Amino acid sequence: MPLTSKSLPEYWDTYKPHKGKGKPPPPPVDSFEWTQHPAHGPGERFLGRPRTALELGCAEGKEAVYLARSGVEVTALDLSPAQIARARLWWEGTPGVSFVNAEACDFLANTPSTFDAVFSRWGAVWFTDPADLVPLVRQRLNPGGVFAVSQAEPIEGFYGPQAMYGNGLSGRRLTVLRWSYSPEMWSDVLGSNGFVDVDAHILPAPDPENVGTLMVRAHVPK
Ligand SMILES: C[S@@+](CC[C@H](N)C(=O)[O-])C[C@H]1O[C@@H](n2cnc3c(N)ncnc32)[C@H](O)[C@@H]1O
Repeated sequence: MPLTSKSLPEYWDTYKPHKGKGKPPPPPVDSFEWTQHPAHGPGERFLGRPRTALELGCAEGKEAVYLARSGVEVTALDLSPAQIARARLWWEGTPGVSFVNAEACDFLANTPSTFDAVFSRWGAVWFTDPADLVPLVRQRLNPGGVFAVSQAEPIEGFYGPQAMYGNGLSGRRLTVLRWSYSPEMWSDVLGSNGFVDVDAHILPAPDPENVGTLMVRAHVPK
Protein backbone atom coordinates (compact mmCIF):
# COMPACT_ATOMS: atom_id res chain seq x y z
CA MET A 1 0.00 0.00 0.00
CA PRO A 2 1.51 3.38 -0.97
CA LEU A 3 2.00 5.72 1.99
CA THR A 4 -0.28 8.73 1.99
CA SER A 5 0.67 11.21 4.76
CA LYS A 6 -0.30 14.72 3.68
CA SER A 7 1.54 16.74 6.31
CA LEU A 8 4.52 16.49 8.66
CA PRO A 9 2.37 15.86 11.78
CA GLU A 10 0.63 13.03 9.93
CA TYR A 11 3.99 11.67 8.77
CA TRP A 12 5.36 11.67 12.32
CA ASP A 13 2.18 10.01 13.64
CA THR A 14 3.48 6.84 11.99
CA TYR A 15 6.88 6.85 13.75
CA LYS A 16 7.55 3.69 15.82
CA PRO A 17 4.15 2.07 15.11
CA HIS A 18 2.68 -0.51 17.46
CA LYS A 19 2.52 -3.73 15.44
CA GLY A 20 0.74 -5.94 17.98
CA LYS A 21 -2.90 -6.01 19.07
CA GLY A 22 -4.48 -3.92 21.82
CA LYS A 23 -2.91 -1.19 23.89
CA PRO A 24 0.80 -0.72 23.10
CA PRO A 25 3.01 -1.58 26.09
CA PRO A 26 5.23 1.27 27.37
CA PRO A 27 8.91 1.05 26.45
CA PRO A 28 11.39 0.45 29.28
CA VAL A 29 12.78 3.59 30.88
CA ASP A 30 16.01 2.47 32.49
CA SER A 31 18.60 4.79 30.95
CA PHE A 32 18.98 8.05 29.05
CA GLU A 33 20.35 7.23 25.62
CA TRP A 34 21.70 9.97 23.35
CA THR A 35 22.96 7.64 20.65
CA GLN A 36 21.59 4.90 18.41
CA HIS A 37 23.96 2.41 20.03
CA PRO A 38 22.67 0.98 23.35
CA ALA A 39 24.57 1.98 26.50
CA HIS A 40 26.90 4.21 24.48
CA GLY A 41 27.42 7.91 25.10
CA PRO A 42 27.35 10.27 28.03
CA GLY A 43 23.84 9.59 29.47
CA GLU A 44 21.90 12.24 31.35
CA ARG A 45 25.07 13.84 32.73
CA PHE A 46 25.49 15.56 29.33
CA LEU A 47 22.77 17.95 30.54
CA GLY A 48 24.46 18.87 33.81
CA ARG A 49 22.02 19.24 36.70
CA PRO A 50 18.99 21.17 35.41
CA ARG A 51 15.95 21.81 37.59
CA THR A 52 13.75 22.33 34.53
CA ALA A 53 14.04 21.01 30.98
CA LEU A 54 12.26 21.24 27.65
CA GLU A 55 12.50 18.37 25.18
CA LEU A 56 11.99 19.18 21.50
CA GLY A 57 10.57 16.17 19.62
CA CYS A 58 9.99 13.60 22.37
CA ALA A 59 7.87 11.00 20.49
CA GLU A 60 7.52 8.14 23.04
CA GLY A 61 8.72 10.38 25.86
CA LYS A 62 11.20 7.94 27.42
CA GLU A 63 13.97 10.46 27.98
CA ALA A 64 11.56 13.02 29.46
CA VAL A 65 10.21 10.41 31.87
CA TYR A 66 13.70 9.27 32.81
CA LEU A 67 14.64 12.85 33.73
CA ALA A 68 11.37 13.47 35.57
CA ARG A 69 11.97 10.35 37.67
CA SER A 70 15.33 11.80 38.66
CA GLY A 71 13.69 15.01 39.88
CA VAL A 72 13.79 17.32 36.83
CA GLU A 73 10.60 19.23 35.93
CA VAL A 74 10.23 18.35 32.23
CA THR A 75 8.06 19.73 29.45
CA ALA A 76 8.20 17.41 26.44
CA LEU A 77 6.75 18.53 23.13
CA ASP A 78 6.13 16.92 19.79
CA LEU A 79 4.54 17.99 16.52
CA SER A 80 2.68 14.71 16.17
CA PRO A 81 -0.73 14.36 17.86
CA ALA A 82 -0.38 10.56 17.85
CA GLN A 83 3.03 10.58 19.54
CA ILE A 84 1.77 12.91 22.27
CA ALA A 85 -1.43 10.88 22.74
CA ARG A 86 0.65 7.71 23.16
CA ALA A 87 3.11 9.37 25.55
CA ARG A 88 0.18 10.60 27.65
CA LEU A 89 -1.43 7.15 27.62
CA TRP A 90 1.77 5.68 29.04
CA TRP A 91 3.05 8.42 31.30
CA GLU A 92 0.14 10.70 32.33
CA GLY A 93 0.35 11.04 36.10
CA THR A 94 4.13 10.66 36.23
CA PRO A 95 5.17 13.47 38.60
CA GLY A 96 7.25 16.19 36.97
CA VAL A 97 6.50 15.57 33.29
CA SER A 98 3.99 17.21 30.98
CA PHE A 99 3.47 16.56 27.29
CA VAL A 100 2.58 19.27 24.77
CA ASN A 101 1.47 18.82 21.17
CA ALA A 102 3.24 21.69 19.42
CA GLU A 103 5.72 22.60 16.72
CA ALA A 104 9.06 23.48 18.30
CA CYS A 105 9.52 27.02 16.87
CA ASP A 106 5.86 27.94 17.51
CA PHE A 107 6.12 26.81 21.12
CA LEU A 108 9.45 28.55 21.76
CA ALA A 109 8.19 31.79 20.20
CA ASN A 110 5.01 31.85 22.27
CA THR A 111 5.74 30.33 25.67
CA PRO A 112 6.50 32.66 28.60
CA SER A 113 8.41 29.81 30.32
CA THR A 114 12.16 29.55 30.55
CA PHE A 115 14.23 26.43 31.20
CA ASP A 116 17.60 25.34 32.59
CA ALA A 117 17.98 22.87 29.72
CA VAL A 118 16.56 22.51 26.21
CA PHE A 119 17.38 19.24 24.51
CA SER A 120 16.63 17.14 21.48
CA ARG A 121 17.47 13.47 21.11
CA TRP A 122 17.25 12.86 17.33
CA GLY A 123 14.21 15.13 17.59
CA ALA A 124 12.89 18.45 16.32
CA VAL A 125 16.34 20.05 16.10
CA TRP A 126 17.31 17.63 13.34
CA PHE A 127 14.24 18.59 11.32
CA THR A 128 14.29 22.38 11.79
CA ASP A 129 16.49 25.06 10.24
CA PRO A 130 19.04 25.97 12.95
CA ALA A 131 18.87 29.60 11.76
CA ASP A 132 15.21 29.69 12.89
CA LEU A 133 15.48 27.48 15.96
CA VAL A 134 18.70 28.48 17.72
CA PRO A 135 17.73 32.14 18.44
CA LEU A 136 14.39 30.95 19.86
CA VAL A 137 16.09 28.37 22.10
CA ARG A 138 18.55 31.02 23.32
CA GLN A 139 15.64 33.27 24.41
CA ARG A 140 13.96 30.53 26.46
CA LEU A 141 17.07 29.38 28.35
CA ASN A 142 17.89 30.67 31.83
CA PRO A 143 21.34 32.19 32.50
CA GLY A 144 23.83 29.31 32.62
CA GLY A 145 21.31 27.09 30.80
CA VAL A 146 22.31 24.31 28.43
CA PHE A 147 21.22 23.40 24.91
CA ALA A 148 22.03 19.77 24.10
CA VAL A 149 21.42 17.85 20.91
CA SER A 150 22.15 14.45 19.40
CA GLN A 151 21.45 13.14 15.93
CA ALA A 152 23.13 11.08 13.23
CA GLU A 153 26.57 12.22 12.18
CA PRO A 154 26.44 14.07 8.86
CA ILE A 155 27.69 12.38 5.74
CA GLU A 156 31.05 13.97 5.02
CA GLY A 157 30.75 16.71 2.40
CA PHE A 158 26.92 16.68 2.34
CA TYR A 159 25.92 19.49 4.66
CA GLY A 160 22.81 21.63 5.05
CA PRO A 161 19.16 20.66 4.53
CA GLN A 162 18.74 17.14 3.14
CA ALA A 163 15.40 16.38 1.48
CA MET A 164 13.65 13.01 1.54
CA TYR A 165 10.34 11.73 0.23
CA GLY A 166 8.56 11.06 3.52
CA ASN A 167 6.17 8.55 1.99
CA GLY A 168 8.91 6.70 0.14
CA LEU A 169 9.32 6.48 -3.59
CA SER A 170 5.91 4.97 -4.36
CA GLY A 171 3.81 7.09 -2.00
CA ARG A 172 2.21 10.54 -2.04
CA ARG A 173 4.79 13.35 -2.48
CA LEU A 174 5.75 14.74 0.94
CA THR A 175 9.03 16.55 1.51
CA VAL A 176 10.78 15.89 4.81
CA LEU A 177 13.86 18.00 5.52
CA ARG A 178 16.66 17.06 7.88
CA TRP A 179 19.42 19.56 8.70
CA SER A 180 22.75 17.86 8.51
CA TYR A 181 25.37 20.25 9.90
CA SER A 182 29.02 19.57 10.59
CA PRO A 183 30.35 20.25 14.13
CA GLU A 184 31.99 23.42 12.74
CA MET A 185 28.66 24.65 11.32
CA TRP A 186 26.99 24.03 14.68
CA SER A 187 29.76 25.89 16.50
CA ASP A 188 29.31 28.87 14.17
CA VAL A 189 25.53 29.11 14.50
CA LEU A 190 25.65 28.71 18.28
CA GLY A 191 28.52 31.16 18.74
CA SER A 192 26.82 33.78 16.58
CA ASN A 193 23.68 33.48 18.74
CA GLY A 194 25.51 34.21 21.99
CA PHE A 195 26.13 30.66 23.23
CA VAL A 196 29.42 29.92 25.03
CA ASP A 197 31.36 26.75 25.96
CA VAL A 198 30.28 25.21 22.68
CA ASP A 199 31.17 21.54 22.26
CA ALA A 200 30.14 20.03 18.92
CA HIS A 201 31.74 16.76 17.90
CA ILE A 202 31.14 13.36 16.36
CA LEU A 203 31.00 10.55 18.90
CA PRO A 204 32.23 7.46 17.03
CA ALA A 205 30.12 4.29 17.17
CA PRO A 206 31.44 1.43 19.34
CA ASP A 207 32.60 -0.08 16.06
CA PRO A 208 34.16 2.94 14.33
CA GLU A 209 33.14 1.54 10.93
CA ASN A 210 29.51 2.19 11.90
CA VAL A 211 27.62 5.49 11.81
CA GLY A 212 28.48 7.77 14.71
CA THR A 213 26.48 10.40 16.55
CA LEU A 214 26.67 14.17 16.27
CA MET A 215 26.73 15.53 19.82
CA VAL A 216 26.23 19.26 20.40
CA ARG A 217 26.20 21.13 23.70
CA ALA A 218 26.37 24.85 24.39
CA HIS A 219 25.58 27.18 27.29
CA VAL A 220 24.03 30.57 27.84
CA PRO A 221 26.43 32.84 29.79
CA LYS A 222 25.71 32.96 33.57
C1 LIG B 1 13.23 10.68 14.72
S1 LIG B 1 11.94 11.07 15.86
C2 LIG B 1 12.83 10.97 17.38
C3 LIG B 1 11.95 10.93 18.57
C4 LIG B 1 12.58 10.64 19.93
N1 LIG B 1 13.30 11.78 20.44
C5 LIG B 1 13.49 9.44 19.85
O1 LIG B 1 14.69 9.58 20.03
O2 LIG B 1 12.95 8.35 19.61
C6 LIG B 1 11.73 12.82 15.64
C7 LIG B 1 10.58 13.38 16.45
O3 LIG B 1 10.64 14.81 16.35
C8 LIG B 1 9.34 15.32 16.12
N2 LIG B 1 9.47 16.56 15.36
C9 LIG B 1 10.00 16.73 14.12
N3 LIG B 1 9.96 18.01 13.75
C10 LIG B 1 9.38 18.68 14.79
C11 LIG B 1 9.07 20.04 15.04
N4 LIG B 1 9.37 20.99 14.13
N5 LIG B 1 8.48 20.39 16.20
C12 LIG B 1 8.20 19.43 17.14
N6 LIG B 1 8.47 18.13 16.97
C13 LIG B 1 9.06 17.75 15.82
C14 LIG B 1 8.62 14.22 15.33
O4 LIG B 1 7.22 14.31 15.44
C15 LIG B 1 9.22 12.95 15.94
O5 LIG B 1 8.43 12.46 16.99
